[in-house]
Parts: sequence; C-alpha cells; structure tokens
Amino acid sequence: MKSKLLAISATVAILAISGQAQADLDLAKKSGCLACHSVEKKVVGPAWKDVAAKYKGDAGAKDRLVAKVKAGGKGNWTEVTGGAPMPPYSPRVKDEDIAKLIDFVLSL
Ligand code: HEC
Repeated sequence: MKSKLLAISATVAILAISGQAQADLDLAKKSGCLACHSVEKKVVGPAWKDVAAKYKGDAGAKDRLVAKVKAGGKGNWTEVTGGAPMPPYSPRVKDEDIAKLIDFVLSL
C-alpha cells in the first residue's frame, strides 16, 4: 500500500515537472525564442542546455541574462554563433515572462 502511494506521488511529481517544462516551452515559442534557440542544439543562438552549463553556479547569471534578453547583445557565444546578435525583447515580452524564461533556461 505504502509503495503504491509512493509510486502515485512520484508519478504526480513527474507530471507536474513536465507540465511546467511544457508551459515554459510554450511561452518560449509564443515569445519567438524558438526561431533561434532549441534546448538541445545550437540553431542561430546557443543551445539552452549549453547556456545553463556555462552559468552553472554563477549566482549573478540570472540578472545578467534577464538584462541581455531585454536589451539584446552579442559577444558571449561568438565561437558558437559566428557573432550573431541576440535581439532585444523588451518591451515585446513582459519582464515577468523574461524572468520565467531565464529560470527555465538555467534549470536545464
Ligand atoms: C534572431 C535570433 C534569436 C532569437 C529570436 C532569440 N535569441 Fe537568444 N540568442 C541569440 C544569439 C545569436 C545569442 C548569442 C549572443 C552572444 O553571443 O552573446 C543568444 C543568446 C541567448 C542567451 C545567452 C546570453 C548570454 O549572454 O550568454 C539566452 C539566455 C537567450 N539567448 C535567451 C533567449 C530568449 C529567452 C529568447 C526569446 C525571448 C531568445 N533568446 C530569442 C539569438 C536569438
């Protein structure tokens, strides 16, 4: 009985996590990010998994990345992208959504 309950709660937790990831991906799609990014592979911009790896353990990364998505910029991924710039997204995408997208990217 106990193990059945554990299995059920584990399943619910997994569904909750993947449901959140799907919502974050939908937001990325709606915001236009997926034209240039994917989670796994470089497109025009770097793979978001590589972005997460680059800033792992960097406590200030979230603020810098939020600022970069708002204002755009280049120079951090030149060897991957050949120098393509990240376009500015503020105010096209709400600050609140940009923060959500960065949390998602850094969680990968
Ligand atoms: C037109 C293509 C394009 C679109 C659309 C785009 N990006 Fe980017 N993105 C790039 C490029 C190119 C870079 C690499 C910039 C650099 O070299 O510093 C980048 C870099 C990034 C980085 C890493 C920044 C850093 O300094 O390490 C993040 C995070 C990011 N993008 C998130 C997003 C989000 C979130 C969206 C949607 C709101 C988005 N991007 C839309 C092209 C794009």
